[in-house]
Amino acid sequence: MVDFWWARPDLRYVGGRLHLAGTDLAQAAAAAGGPAFFYSGARVLDNLRRLRAALDSTGLDGAIRYAMKANRFAPLLTWMKLSGLCGIDACSPAEVRHAVQSGFRTGDISYTATSVSDADLAVLARQPDIWINADSLSMIRRLGRLMPGRAIGIRVNPALGVGYGENQLLRYSGDRTSKFGIYREQFPEALALAREVGLSVEGIHFHVGCGYLNGQLEAWGQVLRECRWFLEQVDRPRLVNLGGGLGVPHVATDQPLDLDRWAGLIRNAFAGLGVAVWVEPGDYIVKDAGLLMLQVTLAERKRNTLFYGVDGGFNLAIEPAFYSLPCEPVPAVLGAEPAIAWAPDALTPATIAGNINEALDLFAQDVPLPAMREGDYLALLNAGGYAAAMGSNHCMRGTATEHLLV
Ligand SMILES: Cc1ncc(COP(=O)(O)O)c(C=O)c1O
Repeated sequence: MVDFWWARPDLRYVGGRLHLAGTDLAQAAAAAGGPAFFYSGARVLDNLRRLRAALDSTGLDGAIRYAMKANRFAPLLTWMKLSGLCGIDACSPAEVRHAVQSGFRTGDISYTATSVSDADLAVLARQPDIWINADSLSMIRRLGRLMPGRAIGIRVNPALGVGYGENQLLRYSGDRTSKFGIYREQFPEALALAREVGLSVEGIHFHVGCGYLNGQLEAWGQVLRECRWFLEQVDRPRLVNLGGGLGVPHVATDQPLDLDRWAGLIRNAFAGLGVAVWVEPGDYIVKDAGLLMLQVTLAERKRNTLFYGVDGGFNLAIEPAFYSLPCEPVPAVLGAEPAIAWAPDALTPATIAGNINEALDLFAQDVPLPAMREGDYLALLNAGGYAAAMGSNHCMRGTATEHLLV
């Protein structure tokens, strides 16, 4: 028996062949005929239910607004909508339209965007049920002009951030001044401006980074305490939106987020204030539900490095190259039982190289792997979030197909 840190009932080897949601991935990838994302619908529901239960355990009114920027595959959105477990957080007019086309009611959509144009606001003005979070004085001024009387939230910036480990690329708030939200020193001005232009501020919103796990929960608790100050300045507070950022394990040493502790921090910060708590995760819902299947196009040693080249690059899954997030490659078909194929002395350090002509196009470097041959299939785990959604046609390598397994 090998204890794969990533294995679970819907993601495991069956007879030496990797399966997701009961599907033989090598077979499914061969049928797809090129790079392909597969998403486990059951895992998405598990993630939503677990989070929903944690929110309920705070004793506060709560709602999940899935941040669709993480993955906007329409069948997946409709699957979530049908579960009744979440609404949507959108960040552009096109995302709003797509959410509606996928089945979500506008009353279940919130809008949190940055560098918002007048054209963006004109779309929102036609949708009175969408909850808007304003993230600048300019946006408040223009919202007042276009939609006087509307209730809004203000995105605040507590100047504290958390993300995956020490990775600064995934922090949206902290020592360095960021473009997101309104800082403490400008908050009174923002509230006064909202009053002047006839907006009713009824909530605050913050999103301070992506990928936090248990090691960051203490710092996240400080973020909540700081944000309570913002809430206390609001005349009619009825809503606090905690943003997303809840992380999933990327390597064997990462532990799943302790949601009991997470919920306790929320209770400590906001119980008794009469506010509802919204949370808008992306990754936590979809990341570990999806993987990217690629085919090995090259198995060759160059100097002392064994390269496995694959038929997709960072244009399909950008996070390892751009955010230095660890990526777990897993061969889809083993030549022997997992215990033999993955025995430590059967493994060779290998580097997984994409097919984009840029030096940083490496998914993983020097990771111990069972031997693979050209033509074999490989799964890159944790590709359910910010992979397909951020895809590009760089080097005209095109995109991958997407498949919901239900
Ligand atoms: C405002 C806002 N909310 C939610 C999210 C979702 O973040 P995550 O996928 O880390 O949960 C993001 C991500 O960038 C965001 O900008």
